[in-house]
Amino acid sequence: MTDAPSPVEAAAGAIRGALGARRPTVAIVLGSGLGYLADRLADPVRIGYGDIPHFPLPTVVGHAGELVCGTLGGKMVLAQSGRFHLYEGHPAAVAALAVRVFAALGIGTLILTNAAGGIRRTFSRGALMMIADQINLSFRNPLIGPVLPGEERFPDMSEPYDPELRRLAREVARARGLRLEEGVYLQLLGPSYETPSEVRMAERLGADAVGMSTAVEVIAARARGMRCLGFSTITNPAAGITGERLDHAEVMEVAQRVAGDLERLVEGVVAELSPALSP
Ligand code: HPA
Repeated sequence: MTDAPSPVEAAAGAIRGALGARRPTVAIVLGSGLGYLADRLADPVRIGYGDIPHFPLPTVVGHAGELVCGTLGGKMVLAQSGRFHLYEGHPAAVAALAVRVFAALGIGTLILTNAAGGIRRTFSRGALMMIADQINLSFRNPLIGPVLPGEERFPDMSEPYDPELRRLAREVARARGLRLEEGVYLQLLGPSYETPSEVRMAERLGADAVGMSTAVEVIAARARGMRCLGFSTITNPAAGITGERLDHAEVMEVAQRVAGDLERLVEGVVAELSPALSP
C-alpha cells in the first residue's frame, strides 16, 4: 500500500500538471492591494485555488485566490495572488503551504510583499521598505510538529533575508530612482490593528513596521533553503504614531497607489537575478 501524498506533494503535483513545460525559478507572494502585479505577467497561465488540493479559498477582500505563472523581467515567475493568513483561522502549516509548495516545485528564490503599518517616525505613507530582518510575534511557527521531508529541524535564521538579494534590490532601486527604506518587520497575529501601546512595544523591540503576514512564511522558506527577499508597503502610520484611526479600505487604497513602484522594483530585481541566485 502506498501512502497518500502529503498536502505539499499533492498541491505541487497539481500545479506541475497545470504548468506543463513551464519551470518558474522565482515565486512572488503578493500582499494586500498588490495583487495587480499578477496581471502584469506576460503570457500568463492562471491556476485557481479551487484546482489545487489543500489550498483554501481566500476570505479577505482584496486577495484573489490564484497562482499566476508568466514572464516578468525575462524570467518565468510564479505569483501567489491571495495568501493564507493566520487571522483567517488557518494553522501556520496552511499559512506556509504555498511557500513549501514553491520549494517542492524547485523554486529557489522567494520574493514576499505585504502592506504594513509604519513604526519608524520618518516613514511616509506609501514608502517602500525592504525587510532587513523580522520578528515573529505571531506565536505560531510552521515547523512545529514532525520534520517534513527536505526541511531542517532547527534552521538557522541569522540571515532570513538574503544579503545578496538585498544588495541587488538596493542597486535596482538606485538605478530606477526609487526610494527604498530598510528595516525590521514584526508579524503579529491580527486581525485587529494594534493599540498604541502595542506599537510602542513593537518599537522598543526594534521593529520598524508591523503587519500580519510574511515572517511565518519566511521561516518555512528558510527551512527549505530558499533565498528570501521581502518588501513592505508602508500604507499608514502604525496606531498611535500620528493619532489617526486605521481603516482597511485606506490600507488597500495606499497599497494600490504605490503598487507601480513596487512592481518596477520587483521586476528590476527579477531581471537582474543571476543564474547563481536563481537555480
Ligand atoms: N498594522 C498591521 N497590519 C497592517 C497595518 C498596520 O498598521 N497596515 C497594513 N497592514
